Amino acid sequence: MYHINSLNIMKKFTSVSDVVDVNALIHSAISLKSNPFSDKKLGENKTIGLIFLNPSLRTRLSTQKAAMNLGMNVMVMNMDKEGWALETQEGAIMNHTTVEHIKDAAAVMGQYCDIIGVRSFPKLIDKFEDYSEDFFNKFITYCGVPVVSLESATLHPLQSLADCITIAECTKNNPRFENRKPKVVLTWAPHIKPLPQAVANSFAEWMCKSDVDFYITHPEGYELDSKYTTNAKIVLNQDFALENADFVYVKNWSSYQQYGKILCTDNSWMLTNNKLKITNDAKVMHCLPVRRNVELSDEILDSHHSLVTQQANNRTWAAQAVLKSILENHCL
Ligand code: CP
Repeated sequence: MYHINSLNIMKKFTSVSDVVDVNALIHSAISLKSNPFSDKKLGENKTIGLIFLNPSLRTRLSTQKAAMNLGMNVMVMNMDKEGWALETQEGAIMNHTTVEHIKDAAAVMGQYCDIIGVRSFPKLIDKFEDYSEDFFNKFITYCGVPVVSLESATLHPLQSLADCITIAECTKNNPRFENRKPKVVLTWAPHIKPLPQAVANSFAEWMCKSDVDFYITHPEGYELDSKYTTNAKIVLNQDFALENADFVYVKNWSSYQQYGKILCTDNSWMLTNNKLKITNDAKVMHCLPVRRNVELSDEILDSHHSLVTQQANNRTWAAQAVLKSILENHCL
């Protein structure tokens, strides 16, 4: 029988749409941050499997720490290096490179785990394939236990929840925001490699559900999928967007329209102290890892403007609030 409470998360955490009450989830995370072991018994004799098809530092360690704080057993598998190559096509004749079908592998993992976290990046070749979230959806279907996204082809909800927690901590009891909403700007930044749109999509969809004045700025051709940017003000002039900003979220992403392509190499999009002068003494955010002096300058990352370490810290409390809600609602 499910215990329903105000923090109820659906049987998966893959998007803001899986959360019934976003503010309650943020407050749960902040409460866990001040009392990390309050639910030490909740995860006793429960096992989480963390399955990585791509590299990770923060997601891997913070989710593991969150699960341990809840008393869970944790198993981590680097599927890309240690597992069999997975087939996803229904009816495939597996006489080539794939060794195991996702329907078998996911079903077996579901036998060993009460909750499974999965990271699977996009290939950035076929927009339809990536945006259908084929791998994630099949994994959810076949594993039979609650699934937490550790970053999918299109979204990174644990990162976005940590970002929302960070903004909430900075705005709470801040006289600057007594009579107005914070202005939050997501700005595109240069990068040498084509990166997924997942962090930007995800930050946009969480901000669009938050009580903030939200802007997105990027060079022409970097428009995100509009389903994530409803309520956002999209401007191509970075200086205009940055004016009076309270928070600036810096992130590179490759083109969604010309899928996976790098269309702009203009280094003047990199945020500098000079650009910060037009903001409202803004705090600067980035999900990390960051390529210093390509995406974001040393002078900002090493200054009081930077929130990047606080964001990374909040990844633990975001994961812990999500796992706590799933344990309470779906694993009793
Ligand atoms: N921000 C983030 O997800 O970091 P990792 O890729 O290191 O997990």
